[in-house]
Amino acid sequence: MPFPTHRPRRLRSTPALRRLVAETTLRPRQLVLPMFVKEGAAEPAPVASMPGVVQHTRDSLRKAAAEAVAAGIGGLMLFGVPARHDATGSAGLDPDGVLNVALRDVRGEVGDATVVMADTCLDEFTDHGHCGVLDERGAVDNDATLAVYGRMAVAQADAGAHVVGPSGMMDGQVGAIRAALDAAGHADTGILAYTAKYASAFYGPFRDAVNSQLRGDRKSYQQDPSNVRESLRELALDLAEGADLVMVKPAMAYLDVLRAVAEAADVPVAAYQVSGEYAMVEAAAERGWLDRDRAILETLTAIRRAGADVVLTYWATEVAGRLDRD
Ligand code: PBG
Repeated sequence: MPFPTHRPRRLRSTPALRRLVAETTLRPRQLVLPMFVKEGAAEPAPVASMPGVVQHTRDSLRKAAAEAVAAGIGGLMLFGVPARHDATGSAGLDPDGVLNVALRDVRGEVGDATVVMADTCLDEFTDHGHCGVLDERGAVDNDATLAVYGRMAVAQADAGAHVVGPSGMMDGQVGAIRAALDAAGHADTGILAYTAKYASAFYGPFRDAVNSQLRGDRKSYQQDPSNVRESLRELALDLAEGADLVMVKPAMAYLDVLRAVAEAADVPVAAYQVSGEYAMVEAAAERGWLDRDRAILETLTAIRRAGADVVLTYWATEVAGRLDRD
C-alpha cells in the first residue's frame, strides 16, 4: 500500500472542519470565578504571586461581579480575608463578617443572574490556618468542626449564597451541612462538595491571596496525591450525604482523578484550576516562555475534556470574553 488510506489529517485541514468535529466545548457558562474580598480594604490589593488577581474592596468586588455576569460566566466563588483571625474562625460565622457581608453585596448586585457560591471552610478565619477547630493536642477535631461548618453554611445561605462549598475535607461535612441548612429553612441552598481535594503544593499562592499562615500541613485531612481509588470512596460518601455537585481539586495534575470521578458520579462534576496552576502559566508567560492565551485555553479545554462540567478558574472573566456563548 503506497499511500495511507486513512487520513486523519483530512478533518484538520480547515478551521471550519476542525470546528465541526471538535469534541469538547468551552463556554462562559461553564466557568466559575473565585474572588477574594478583604475586610476594611480601601483599594484593591494585588496578590503578588497571582498577577492579575486582587483582594477586592466591597466596591471593587461588586463591580467585578457585575463584569463577570456581563461576560456570561456561570458562577462566582467568594473567599473572605478577615481583619482578625482567632482559634475558632468566628469571623466566618458572624453575619457581619467580611465574607457574609460580601455575599450580601454580591447577591444584591447580581441577583439570580449567576450562581453565587461561598467557600465554607475555616482556614481563612483561623489564626492557626487549619480548616477546622483544634483539639487540646492541636489536632484538627473532625466532629467539633462539623458543627461549626453547619452554622457557617447557614450564615452564608442567610447572606444570599445559592451554593455553599465545603472545602475542608472533614468526614461527614456534606451531611452535617445539609442537615443544618434544611433545619434553618434553606432546603434550596445547594452544596458543591470538595470531594477529592488533595494535599497539594499548588495551593501555594492562595496563602498570599488570603493572608493565611499555616502552621504544619493538611495531610491528615486532605488526600495523598498517590491515591485515586480513595477519591471514589469520598465520592460515594458525598453523594450519599446529599452533595449536589462534586469537585476535584487541583485540576491539571489530577485529570485522571477527574475522569474517574466523572465516570462514577451522577451529579455534575466541577474541577478547580487552583492558584498554583494559574501562577505557573502567568510566570512562564511573563518570561516569554509560553504563549499565554493559547496555554490558558489549552488547560481549560483539557480539564473539560477530562470530564469537568464546571471549571473554577481565576481567568474566568477574561477567557469568557474570548469564547462563543451558548
Ligand atoms: C480552603 C481552600 C484552599 C483553596 C480553596 N479553598 C486552600 C487549601 O485547602 O489549602 C485553594 C485554592 C487555590 O489554591 O486556588 N479554604
